[in-house]
Amino acid sequence: MTATISRPETGSGTAGPLLCTCVVDVTHDVRSFVLRPAVPAAYDFEPGQHLTLTVPVAGEPLSRCYTISSSPRRAEELTITVKRVPGGPVSNWLHDHLRVGDSVLADGPLGRFSTTHHPAARYLFLTAGSGITPLMSMLRTVHADRADVDVVLVHHARTPADIVFREELRTIEAEHPGVRVVVVCETDAADETWTGPRGRVCLEQLRAAAPDLAEREVLTCGPAPYMAAVRDLLAEAGADPARCHEESFSFADAPAPVAGTSTGTTYAVELRRSGRSFRCGEGTPLLSAAAAAGITLPSSCQEGVCGTCTTQVLSGRVEMEHQGGIRPREVAQGKTLLCCSTPCEDVVLDA
Ligand code: FES
Repeated sequence: MTATISRPETGSGTAGPLLCTCVVDVTHDVRSFVLRPAVPAAYDFEPGQHLTLTVPVAGEPLSRCYTISSSPRRAEELTITVKRVPGGPVSNWLHDHLRVGDSVLADGPLGRFSTTHHPAARYLFLTAGSGITPLMSMLRTVHADRADVDVVLVHHARTPADIVFREELRTIEAEHPGVRVVVVCETDAADETWTGPRGRVCLEQLRAAAPDLAEREVLTCGPAPYMAAVRDLLAEAGADPARCHEESFSFADAPAPVAGTSTGTTYAVELRRSGRSFRCGEGTPLLSAAAAAGITLPSSCQEGVCGTCTTQVLSGRVEMEHQGGIRPREVAQGKTLLCCSTPCEDVVLDA
């Protein structure tokens, strides 16, 4: 029998544990892991959403988010595509330890970076490095649906050896009349001279790929410097900011908790389940204050995007400024994101 797993209302392990059924080397340092639930199930997710995986690193559970690169049209499995990152504990753990037959804990899927939320007839997908993964899920979905849309994907790679999904991009482009793929490399690989367009992202390249770029829905994902460059270029090209969407954080390399702007007033924070407590300054995110008190709580993006730090507030008021990591229904249920919530009075949390 096949059940349906819907997008969860909380980051509480709804999707996991997941069984690794296949491992595929995509490039020399990028690997895809195909995951399925232990009990056969179909996933209800949107192309571009991500999972939060929790793995044991040096004996401690550590969580990070990974975009699903597969299409929801293959609903019986979820594939994450992970680049080995220097100093990236979870990415490296996955590369070094996750094998076929192993299980991994997962929450999600979550996220609003998806064509589902930005319907259009013409898209420009801009990606660099492993930032291609959410756009690959969307492109695979366009391909699977034979969708009547026009998609230009411009992908930047360091060398030809670093082009993620190289063969499949060409296949999709050949099979879908509305898809055009432009790959730009910074330089040659040791064993291959790149004959296509070269260099870092610039307006000339983007205009050559999509002369009508200012009229397209633009979805961008890549490393922070690339994202910043693209933002400036799109502004220069006159693109409507309301039609430019980005996945701007690096899941695999989460920033340190934000210190916040404390006013001197502090509030008592009680973690009811663990019996711990700490004080949190007005204007200081709860997650940061907990970290300062030596208390590690589940988190990943630290930016109010991923939903990993979703926690039930049992009493007390908090103020939250999130970026889509929590649903209105969860907020109505009294949940909050600890990474971007500050206390307005003493609070008790279900943690
Ligand atoms: S850690 Fe990602 S939303 Fe809080």
